[in-house]
Amino acid sequence: MNKQADLKKSSQAEKIYLFDSTLRDGEQTPGARLNYEEKVEIARQLARLNVDIIEAGFPVSSPGELKAVQEISRQIKGPVICGLARAVKEDIDAAWEAIKDAESPRLHVFLGASAIHMQHKFNKEPAQILEQAVDAVKYASRFTSNIEYSPEDASRADEEYLYQMIEAVIEAGATVINIPDTVGYAVPEEFGGLIRRIRENVGNIDRAMISVHCHNDLGLAVANSLAAIKNGARQVECNINGIGERAGNASLEEIAVALRIRQNHFPYYTDLNFSEVYRTSRLVSKMTNISIPVNKAVVGLNAFSHSSGIHQDGVLKNKETYEIIDAELIGGSAAKMLLTARSGRHAVLDQLNKLGFSLTREQLDVIYEHFVSLADKKKEIYPEDLEALVLDHISAAEPRYRLDYLQTVSGSKSVPAAVIRLMKEDGNTIEEVAVGAGPIDAAYNAINKITGLSVGLEKYKINAVTQGRDALGEVQVNLSYQDRTITGRGTSTDIIEASVKAYLNGLNKLLKINGYG
Ligand code: KIV
Ligand code: ZN
Repeated sequence: MNKQADLKKSSQAEKIYLFDSTLRDGEQTPGARLNYEEKVEIARQLARLNVDIIEAGFPVSSPGELKAVQEISRQIKGPVICGLARAVKEDIDAAWEAIKDAESPRLHVFLGASAIHMQHKFNKEPAQILEQAVDAVKYASRFTSNIEYSPEDASRADEEYLYQMIEAVIEAGATVINIPDTVGYAVPEEFGGLIRRIRENVGNIDRAMISVHCHNDLGLAVANSLAAIKNGARQVECNINGIGERAGNASLEEIAVALRIRQNHFPYYTDLNFSEVYRTSRLVSKMTNISIPVNKAVVGLNAFSHSSGIHQDGVLKNKETYEIIDAELIGGSAAKMLLTARSGRHAVLDQLNKLGFSLTREQLDVIYEHFVSLADKKKEIYPEDLEALVLDHISAAEPRYRLDYLQTVSGSKSVPAAVIRLMKEDGNTIEEVAVGAGPIDAAYNAINKITGLSVGLEKYKINAVTQGRDALGEVQVNLSYQDRTITGRGTSTDIIEASVKAYLNGLNKLLKINGYG
């Protein structure tokens, strides 16, 4: 399936340039405001992903935006860095100021081209708009020869007028002509046809690259972009996770993966570093606070999950029975089985093996019986649930360590320290003292000294489970040891005690599991 490298070498394959607008149109998603550091961090990740162009922002919109684009231009090497500007001098000056230090800067100038935009936004005649576009491109070409021009709302514009506009801006110096479906109105056949007719009717179109920019109002942004590629577009503008104004923009990962998986239909390649797709998607989701729908193509949590027993059995026998994309391609973890009441023994055994358990046949029978009754109550059974079933029903062992005594010292002028005494299964006690960054850290260090294990603390979370000043605190920790992670929980009205109990709970589980491992 993954013959990208072969295709690249083949003489018929043409490159598709990926223009990422996550930091510009993506940031226009309601509520997705990114601060300066976040923008730079996402840009750095986009460079690792190896997109061809990063549209870093709309510099005239605020001094902070200008500074962020400027910083990205100075720090990020590899992709072209693009700044957006309306077709007016003030915008072009600001955009150039922001991108002029980039290794490879591009100015992106846009102006409404449909009758509805020209009349209602600008109250201008088509001839005046055409003149303004040409003047703006000429002005931009004083700074750089890398100029992209977008006739905004092109998919609703008069086609003859669009051809004239494109020809004139190419003459004025534009090297990329971007055709936006600004309101997501187009459908694939029609949009592909528009791109083909632009190639056929614009005399000087061979002096520019055709790009497309599709919005997702009818859920067709990716389909429209692919139709445009088939008809001659060689740059696609798209965003990570498909975020963007209103219903979003075409999703970068969906376009790139579709081109790659369906090479038999699309004889093109991209230079994307596919193994960074999953990481980039998670980073953008975290920074923008926009969660990824579980059923989102390519990067959704369920994109590689199989729920029905028939599918799970098929995938375990041969992945290709129900999977067309290998999760490894995008740097995601291996295909995930969601165990449900419909899952058979084969899937449960496979998950247990992945968790590091090797059970006897009798033990598997016991666990499977408990699994079926749990799955009847709970829709989905996660690896942690299965782990808990094994711990509850297979292991009769007592916890290896219990808390016998705890004392901590902390204060603004003292070094945080803890004294911990643990009781082992045989009744013997061991005491240790340790210091740390705070009393909880000191207590955890003392426990590690007693057990001799260097357990990593991956996550620490505290919640009040009751109301008021004497609230019961519940601590949840994720501990890692060798290649396993496990959750521990503890409650107490004393948050340090709750923290120690959670740590010991996780530690005892790890020790029990290792006994089976
Ligand atoms: O949707 C649109 O038309 C745009 C332009 C600025 C390209 O975002
Ligand atoms: Zn847009």
